Amino acid sequence: MNHTYLIVEPSIEPHIALIRLNRPKELNALNLELMAELRDTLKQLDQDDEVRAIVITGDERAFAAGADIRQMSGKSAVDMLLIDQFSTWDTIKKIKKPLIAAVSGFALGGGNELVMHCDLVVASETAQFGQPEIKLGVIPGAGGTQRLTRQVGKVRAMELVLTGEFISAPQALAWGLVNKVVPVELYLEEALNVARKLASQSPLAIRLAKEAVLKAQDAHLAEGLEFERKNFYLLFAGQDQKEGMQAFIDKRKPNFTGR
Ligand code: CAA
Repeated sequence: MNHTYLIVEPSIEPHIALIRLNRPKELNALNLELMAELRDTLKQLDQDDEVRAIVITGDERAFAAGADIRQMSGKSAVDMLLIDQFSTWDTIKKIKKPLIAAVSGFALGGGNELVMHCDLVVASETAQFGQPEIKLGVIPGAGGTQRLTRQVGKVRAMELVLTGEFISAPQALAWGLVNKVVPVELYLEEALNVARKLASQSPLAIRLAKEAVLKAQDAHLAEGLEFERKNFYLLFAGQDQKEGMQAFIDKRKPNFTGR
């Protein structure tokens, strides 16, 4: 696949793919073309049995500064409805492999929403997060009001969405938006470390665990618990559960095959 707005390394290391958003002059603003490339790339990597974890990053100055304001500015409501730019995100939210965001600099608007589509987040000390759409007279459109509220709670979500102000990486850590904050020279390496950990686990168990955790975000608790239990039992149909438990008993490292 040829990429204009991404740099993709499908196996930067065994079982690990790296996607770099690559519109540095525009602070990686997410135009329609970039989002279509991202959707197609993620779909392809999701279907590749060799890939067990996917790291998404930008550059040091920006993870992504949001949807492309220039591309949207002149559009009418009918244009927006017909273009339906957020439909690409429906694919991203269905990616089954674990997604790890490596964030430095700005993660704003759609950039922060992309971070929230990832499963684990490593931030550099310089990262800044926000939903500044209110300052453009609009509101978040790629799930920001919903995911942010579930992740940080109502009053904090209100603060970001209604004021449009940014928060620092340590604040994002305190609010539960990111897993880890590290010096800027380490954020990508640390995200790769996280990816290595996930890639060493059973791909089947990782897939069903991700599915079950996401279910907790969008289902009632009882439904989520039922879903989790079903996935737990289902893993006993595969070889990885047998290998994993036997390896524990044998005091050796498991050899997971994803079957
Ligand atoms: N869309 C298009 N271009 C953008 C952009 C965006 N979201 N963000 C930055 N850029 C461009 C700037 O226009 C500028 O281009 P030129 O050099 O051609 O003028 C270049 O990137 C560098 O930006 P600045 O000169 O503004 O850099 P700065 O360091 O002074 O400021 C910033 C950085 C605070 C991030 C500022 O660029 C900014 O506020 N950007 C917009 C952030 C924003 O509002 N994001 C939300 C977009 S709407 C959305 O995302 C909806 C959704 O839910 C998906």
